[in-house]
Amino acid sequence: MTSRRNREILIPGPEEKAVFIRHNFGEIADEYDRFNDLATFGIHRIWKKKTALATGLAMQRGVTVLDLCSGSGDIALHLKNILGTDSRIIAVDFSAQMLSHLRERLGIQNGIAVETVEMDVSRLTFAGSSSIDAITMGFGLRNLANRAESLSEIFRVLKPGALFVNLDIGHVHPPLIEKIHQFYFERYIPLLGQFLHGEPHRMYEYLPHSIKTFPDQSALKIELERSGFIDVFYQNFLFGTVALHVAKKPERAV
Ligand SMILES: C[S@@+](CC[C@H](N)C(=O)[O-])C[C@H]1O[C@@H](n2cnc3c(N)ncnc32)[C@H](O)[C@@H]1O
Repeated sequence: MTSRRNREILIPGPEEKAVFIRHNFGEIADEYDRFNDLATFGIHRIWKKKTALATGLAMQRGVTVLDLCSGSGDIALHLKNILGTDSRIIAVDFSAQMLSHLRERLGIQNGIAVETVEMDVSRLTFAGSSSIDAITMGFGLRNLANRAESLSEIFRVLKPGALFVNLDIGHVHPPLIEKIHQFYFERYIPLLGQFLHGEPHRMYEYLPHSIKTFPDQSALKIELERSGFIDVFYQNFLFGTVALHVAKKPERAV
């Protein structure tokens, strides 16, 4: 049984959400990559590669791309494989532990450098307005304490005409799939988390909650449009369990 006190911890309000997220991702950082592989049977690698490719910048030289909420850097590493020479990839995350895993992985790789910046994505103070050629984000938007503020910051730093590509968990609607989805997130994920962490961890119990409180694919499309983006579309993977949204900053925006 979840006590009332535990429930309060499991469902952080906007004020405490950023602290909760940073602290708890730090605690599970060591098992995060194994968790992704076991939770998705490795399929997350394909979705993340598609995310990098959806920037439309494959083989482009001299471009600057941000991977926000980069964590241990899967998408940043895919970007590294597809971008042309003289490009810059900047991986941003506010969890020092998650970024240190990315730095470990980068240590054994050649090619384009990936810079890491420990920062809250709602204030990208290092990036000038209209300076970035594309932004990717994987499984981050749902976790942001200030989604509207962060979207407006993403909009600010993108160059006019540039794309924001967002991968996150979606909502599924056919009743049977919805039941499987619910079982998977509410039962399997906390058990898998417990197996990997050695004991139950609140992050794996927060995960199903974070999905319920996150807009579905069409609501997120509208939210992106309200943030100023145009030509917004999304692609569902696995019946909408995961969705990839692509949003463009208008050519004439500043
Ligand atoms: C689920 S992980 C995703 C990691 C990686 N993008 C991936 O797809 O595997 C979410 C990441 O978002 C980061 N994060 C959440 N809110 C953030 C914020 N406001 N600013 C910076 N990073 C944030 C967490 O620290 C965590 O590393």
